[in-house]
Amino acid sequence: MTDFLNDLFPEESAIPAHAQIPARIDQREYLVGGALVTWPGDQAPVLSPVFLKTKNGSEQKVLGSTPLLTSKEALEAMEAAVKAYDLGHGVWPMMTVAERIGHVEIFLEKMRAKRAEVVNLLMWEIGKTQKDSEREFDRTCDYIVDTINALKELDRNSARFVQEQGIMAQIRRVPLGVALCMGPYNYPLNETFSTLFPALILGNTVVFKPAKYGVLLIRPLLEAFRDSFPPGVINVIYGRGRETVGALMESGKIDVFAFIGTNKGANDLKRLHPKPHRLKAILGLDAKNPAIVLPDADLANAVSECVLGSLSFNGQRCTALKILYVHASRVEEFNKRFCAEVAKLKPGMPWEPGVGLTPLPEPGKTDYLKALVADAEKHGARVINENGGVSHQTFFYPAVLFPVNNKMRVYVEEQFGPLVPIVPYENVSEAIDYVVNSNFGQQVSIFGKDSRQLAKLIDAFSSQVGRININTQCQRGPDTFPFNGRKDSAEGTLSVADALRVFSIRTLVAAKITEGNKQIIGTIIRNRESSFLSTDYIF
Ligand code: G3H
Repeated sequence: MTDFLNDLFPEESAIPAHAQIPARIDQREYLVGGALVTWPGDQAPVLSPVFLKTKNGSEQKVLGSTPLLTSKEALEAMEAAVKAYDLGHGVWPMMTVAERIGHVEIFLEKMRAKRAEVVNLLMWEIGKTQKDSEREFDRTCDYIVDTINALKELDRNSARFVQEQGIMAQIRRVPLGVALCMGPYNYPLNETFSTLFPALILGNTVVFKPAKYGVLLIRPLLEAFRDSFPPGVINVIYGRGRETVGALMESGKIDVFAFIGTNKGANDLKRLHPKPHRLKAILGLDAKNPAIVLPDADLANAVSECVLGSLSFNGQRCTALKILYVHASRVEEFNKRFCAEVAKLKPGMPWEPGVGLTPLPEPGKTDYLKALVADAEKHGARVINENGGVSHQTFFYPAVLFPVNNKMRVYVEEQFGPLVPIVPYENVSEAIDYVVNSNFGQQVSIFGKDSRQLAKLIDAFSSQVGRININTQCQRGPDTFPFNGRKDSAEGTLSVADALRVFSIRTLVAAKITEGNKQIIGTIIRNRESSFLSTDYIF
């Protein structure tokens, strides 16, 4: 084993004070109907990707455990949400927008107080660096604030009446019902809350199941959820997906399915719903975003963006660059520079300053990555960077594979890890064909200077993917921009404003413009007889 791997995992005594964690967190509570219920049954162990050096060799840190609820408890949580929604007549959906915003603001304040605890758990549970964990936490708080502001604007715009062809109407957005929100392990806070809060603030009630990994980090927020919202508005369950969430879908009582994960998982769950036309789905799924480096690209920029794009958070981003097409005339230079930049990334523990490569949380992930490397080597690729593909326990040092071709698994499979396949090409049509024939259609990055060539590619890809990045890595942010995808990559569009639309439906009150109707509507508004038909708005 190379020296740096031998020294990678620390002794417990070497962990800095701010990153220390309780001996075990055995969480038995889950949130249903406004109460934290204690689960007496089986628990699922929570393992950290971090190993610790002990007298007996290196041992994987056991963080604790979470409840392995069954379909019974999951259904109880859903019934609590159904009751709180009460066919749209519950306290929460009937509240004014201003009142709901007030509840979310109370939550936000309580959430901010838990920053250090949640950030620490992000590091321990999924191996995200401290800087990125802090960024995830802050970005999530900003997202909630932006959602509040976007809703205020939406509410102001819907306060007025429209008149068209002799008909007057007031058009407002109303909730859809009970939402099931599930997020991914790579952004267990941000990606789940970016659907959870739009759903809540619009007046839906929610069942929320935390991600597969990054699950204990929701525990510090359970009291905040309980104390900030009326009973049943937000319910948090734990357990195996198929058993818990499957039962909810089969019940037919879920109205909105917000899921960030694999397209297979989404398909399996969606098809359990007995009335698919009643289920609105918003899905963020798999991706295999390519970078295309054109012959005239500024290589310094292309390399730095491609390293960021392919290896930040060890390549575990749905938006990561997962295959690099580099023109044959520049590929040698690109590879050299790329490997030199990869070598600068510091391996280590999430809390170490300047660290860029950390252990991976998914069990069996290093074996999977090794199998992809072996398969690529079998079909003619080499690992071209020093130490590429060496691994120790949960840690896998990035492997840059070259030359990659269409016989290799890594050419099509979403590696979701620190593997960088580089495909040399002669004609840009090869890269276009890759995107057109891919099952995925999230984003693409193009690196080059020639405006005509770039314009041609923009036009070729505008019907294939959701976002075309020029001389820039693929990414979701800024969160006000639309985030979506085609084919197996997504269903629906998210952004601060789009999410408000996704979790609501426009409903209108309309009447012919007659003196009688004007009087009736005027009276309802003046006397504040309806909470829907109202010209009140929030400043
Ligand atoms: O994993 C998918 C995330 O939405 C990616 O977000 O591009 O900001 O890292 P990001």
